[in-house]
Amino acid sequence: MFNDRSYCGELKLNDTGSDVSISGWVDRKRDLGGIIFLEIRDVTGIIQAVFDSSVSKENAEIADSVRSEWVVQIKGKVRERSKETINPNVPTGQIEIVADSILILNKSLVPPFSLDIRDTVNEEVRLKYRFLDLRREDMKESMIKRHQMMQFTRKFLSDRRFIEIETPMLNKSTPEGARDFLVPSRINKGEFYALPQSPQLFKQILMISGYDRYFQIVKCFRDEDLRNDRQPEFTQIDMELSFITPDMIMEIIEDLLKQAVKEVTGKDVSYKFPVIDYDEAMSKYGTDAPDTRVGFEIRDCSDIFASSTFNVFSSALSSKGVIKGIAVEDGGKLSRKMTDDYSEYVKKFGAKGFPMFKYSNGNFEGGISKFITDDEKSKLVERFELKEPAVIFFSVDKAQIVNTTLANMRLKIARDLDMIDDSKLNFLWVKNFPLIEYHEEDKRYYAVHHPFTAPLPEHMDLLNNITPENAGKIKAQAYDIVLNGSEIGGGSIRIHDSAVQSKLFSILGMSEEEARVKFSFLLDALQFGAPPHGGLALGLDRVMMLLLKKNSIREVIAFPKTQKGQCMMSEAPSHVSDDQLNELSLRIVKK
Ligand code: AMO
Repeated sequence: MFNDRSYCGELKLNDTGSDVSISGWVDRKRDLGGIIFLEIRDVTGIIQAVFDSSVSKENAEIADSVRSEWVVQIKGKVRERSKETINPNVPTGQIEIVADSILILNKSLVPPFSLDIRDTVNEEVRLKYRFLDLRREDMKESMIKRHQMMQFTRKFLSDRRFIEIETPMLNKSTPEGARDFLVPSRINKGEFYALPQSPQLFKQILMISGYDRYFQIVKCFRDEDLRNDRQPEFTQIDMELSFITPDMIMEIIEDLLKQAVKEVTGKDVSYKFPVIDYDEAMSKYGTDAPDTRVGFEIRDCSDIFASSTFNVFSSALSSKGVIKGIAVEDGGKLSRKMTDDYSEYVKKFGAKGFPMFKYSNGNFEGGISKFITDDEKSKLVERFELKEPAVIFFSVDKAQIVNTTLANMRLKIARDLDMIDDSKLNFLWVKNFPLIEYHEEDKRYYAVHHPFTAPLPEHMDLLNNITPENAGKIKAQAYDIVLNGSEIGGGSIRIHDSAVQSKLFSILGMSEEEARVKFSFLLDALQFGAPPHGGLALGLDRVMMLLLKKNSIREVIAFPKTQKGQCMMSEAPSHVSDDQLNELSLRIVKK
């Protein structure tokens, strides 16, 4: 009850006998010859109201005139339903409202699609009519759970001395990583603001200003290619702390996530999140965001095949390639057609094929088994700890192609064989990422996380003597949190020494002048008593998508963009008038 209005889904059996007033949308109407039933929906759920024409002909006629999605206010008395009319499928199924009055507050056109979540509706149509789609039960659940998650997070962090501070949306453009969204300045002609890709620099400045625990639930903007787990504007739970170690940050986040999971899903996550090194993740899973719900870890077999005469293996090894494999236990389920299809499928990862053989009854059969010597076979049994029946797949190429292929095929095969337990929530920390990587094509170094991340203290010397070959060996004080194979957050300890920061900028190919143009405020601030600090940002949308088991991030965002970056409802982005362009001194160049 709120301001004399009761919420449909909150009425209970012990409200029986109470006079109530409800307001909402007509979900469904049934006419049982003189008795009209209206199911009325609001944000909390649905309740049935009954109109008996023998009691009030006028009310029954009005009730009979309404259509789906009309807006009504109904007053009446709560009554317990007779046994045979109880509806066990809705929480209010034991009661109904015997209506005394009905007021039509507004009419509605016939909705272009069914609002019943059991009916599948094309996503473009749902997004175009998002105002209707948001009335559907599943969207409502997503919105409410997202709200709970945000409220919980605010309380959790505030209770631990974090202060929520807003940082600006109109910033200086300093693209590193993704492209910036730019906003032209009318007053400063020819100049642009950039929308924040993250509040990274501002939160570091806040540490220097002495707010030693900051957080913000904040919109971030990145102009990058979109996928099911990426939006051009998304929300981070962003935080930064001074006088902190990676372990302390990881502990706070782990605690936050465990309690948030309980809050949002009711589930207990009682295990300590495993922590693995980046190098171990790459070697066992071929990716820095492994899904540990899936078994069959990757094993390097290059040494086993060092003197192989099988041409595919020997030529790969002689051109600095590697041979790695996965053993799919319970492989008896993999059909010939599936394994044939896989050798085509892997081409999208740059692999040339996906050689395999089967292991059953102590024998190696089919595929490339005839090219494998007895000695190699026994080593393979040991390396993979093979259990029968199994199918062993290999990827043979440059390390990067092999890793990508096996990382993806682990998941695809597990999905095809229905071996992924969707009820599991497998959290995992990955730490000690490389600080920088060398890109041969551009002949330059790039920051792996971002250029404000500190190296491991013991790797500082390597930073002073960097070469393309040893670049990958310099590890960062950086950590990612992964859930079921998706990176849901990342952070690091930052550089708090301006000389080290300048050094890193120069390694990244930025001249002293360029570094000053882009980051003078940071370089200046670092010289005024910057405390040691670090932080992390969680991707709120991704967290919600995974906790609510949705297969797209759009299911947990009220007004998302499509894969083409468009809002189907408001039709953004759009052309603007010549007057608007003139005011900004902008001209569209047609190609
Ligand atoms: P990072 O770039 O790793 O770190 O981003 C943090 C988390 O934000 C989420 N995320 C996205 N979610 C949806 N759509 C996107 N386009 C998108 N891009 C990122 C991911 C990711 O893990 N400033 C640093 C954090 C820090 O160092 O403290 C940062 O932004 O879940």
